[in-house]
Order: sequence, then structure tokens, then C-alpha cells
Amino acid sequence: KNMTDPKAERTFIAIKPDGVQRGLIGDIIKRFEQKGYKLVAGKLMWAPKELLMNHYKDLADKPFYNGLVAYMASGPVFAMVWEGKAVVATGRKILGATNPLDSAPGTIRGDYCIDVGRNICHGSDAVETAQREIALWFKDDELNDYEFADKKWIY
Ligand code: PPS
Repeated sequence: KNMTDPKAERTFIAIKPDGVQRGLIGDIIKRFEQKGYKLVAGKLMWAPKELLMNHYKDLADKPFYNGLVAYMASGPVFAMVWEGKAVVATGRKILGATNPLDSAPGTIRGDYCIDVGRNICHGSDAVETAQREIALWFKDDELNDYEFADKKWIY
């Protein structure tokens, strides 16, 4: 894969246990799909604590860290990799502000949740973070390289 192609930027998006339990997998996938982004990988996974502690290791000093890991371990999450132009930053816009009380209506969090501790979804906050998170959650052979037949209508 030519990752110097700006269109090949990738991000890690996870639907958290509350999003899975509330039946929002389809809606969340739909929003990224209809935007024009390409799904490169996806799996339902009940994440081990060790994976979640590693995923959130930069937050280990925060008072909410243990609660955040317990919440993420409370049921299966739907982990995904999405690809396309500026998908890291734009993906965060599709999710909405981290605290759902600040998320604009029309975003996933703006439309579906209230509490920062039950905020439905996760998205990588930078390109380097995305690379680390994708490598943490997926094996190389789970990432699918393919082209959209009608890409010329998107780019
Ligand atoms: S911080 O403090 O600026 O580093 O935090 P932030 O970047 O806003 O959020 C990092 C992740 O921590 C989650 N978070 C919380 N979880 C539970 N309770 C509280 N109070 C809380 N504050 C932040 C937040 O949802 C981010 O997780 P992800 O999975 O990336 O959404």
C-alpha cells in the first residue's frame, strides 16, 4: 500500500460496548460509508484488559483511567480501520466532541449520548496515534487493500 498517497490515510475507529449494546453499529458504519471512506478492516472483539490498558496507556495517570478500561472491557467492541483523505481529523468530526455535552447535533455523540464515560465511540486523535492503534488491534493480514470501482466520483 502506498501510504504516501494522502487518500490512503487510515484511522482506527471503535464502537464501544455501549454503542454495540444500543444497536448503533450499522448507523456508525453508515456515516463513514456515506461520507465516502473505505472500510479496510472490522471485527467484533471482547478486548482483553491488557490490550485496553495499552491502548489507553497515555491516560494511566488520569482519575478516570480505571473506569475507562473497565467500561471498555464490559462487553464486545466493534473495531474498525477506515481509509481516505484526511480520515483521522474528519473521522473525529463525524464522532463529535469527546464530551457529548459539547458534541454538535448531527455528530454520532451529539445524536446519541450524554455522558463522557458512555460516549459510544473512539477515534484516533492523530495520524501517528492511528498507526499505533491499528497495529495494536489488527494483524497486517486483517487489513484489506482494495479499490472502490467508482472512486472517481469521490476524488
Ligand atoms: S484528556 O484528559 O484530555 O487526555 O482526555 P481526552 O483526550 O478528552 O480523552 C481521552 C479519553 O478519555 C476518555 N475520557 C473519559 N472517560 C471517562 N470519564 C471521563 N471523565 C473521561 N474524560 C475523558 C475520553 O472519552 C477519551 O477516550 P476515547 O476512547 O479516545 O474517546
